[in-house]
Amino acid sequence: MSARARLFDDPVPELPAGVRLYRRCLNEQEQAALLEEVVEILRRAPLFTPRMPRTGRAFSVRMSNTGPLGWVADREKGYRYEPAHPETGRPWPAMPKMLLELWAELAGYPAPPEAGLINHYAPGAKMGLHIDIDEEALDAPIVSISLGCSARFRLGGLKRREPTISFDLHAGDVLILEGPSRLRYHGIDRIYPGTGSLPSEIGEGRINITLRRVAHP
Ligand code: SIN
Ligand code: FE2
Repeated sequence: MSARARLFDDPVPELPAGVRLYRRCLNEQEQAALLEEVVEILRRAPLFTPRMPRTGRAFSVRMSNTGPLGWVADREKGYRYEPAHPETGRPWPAMPKMLLELWAELAGYPAPPEAGLINHYAPGAKMGLHIDIDEEALDAPIVSISLGCSARFRLGGLKRREPTISFDLHAGDVLILEGPSRLRYHGIDRIYPGTGSLPSEIGEGRINITLRRVAHP
């Protein structure tokens, strides 16, 4: 199937309670505006390679953050939120207004997100099945925005071994995990190279931004 055919022949799957998928929530202009903001953020807070706790194995995804807190991962101290970039030592760039507005519109939460984790998937990158559990405010949703190439998303249950469903995420899609699905396992099996474009400063692939509330307001 061609990339274009895939985009238009892609039924919205039946999703469990607490999962909301907004196809093309951001139109092309909005995606381009957001990508400009991402370029500026990455200029000041370059993508870094996170590493697994203990083994030190590198993620295939590279990351940065926007907002007062950023998610980081390294061999010595594991997964956590930090107010500064692990390599530059500088505070993360402020969260763009667009992202704060998107959260205000969709999250239904009485406080703004503190972390916007930016993942860059080059062709071949993926993200294993995991849960987002490093936040104290588990009553807040995870709001996830896709840009650039499409990707195969896998959604599981509350335990690692439970069955999973898979569907594609495309540029402009917004996916929300909340309430009974806030702690569902999820991951990215692969991206589809050539299905979308990113600014040349970023390079080929896919950008995903997840907005998270970390502390209880
Ligand atoms: C993540 O779970 O951190 C990323 C999900 C995605 O890339 O869509
Ligand atoms: Fe996640």
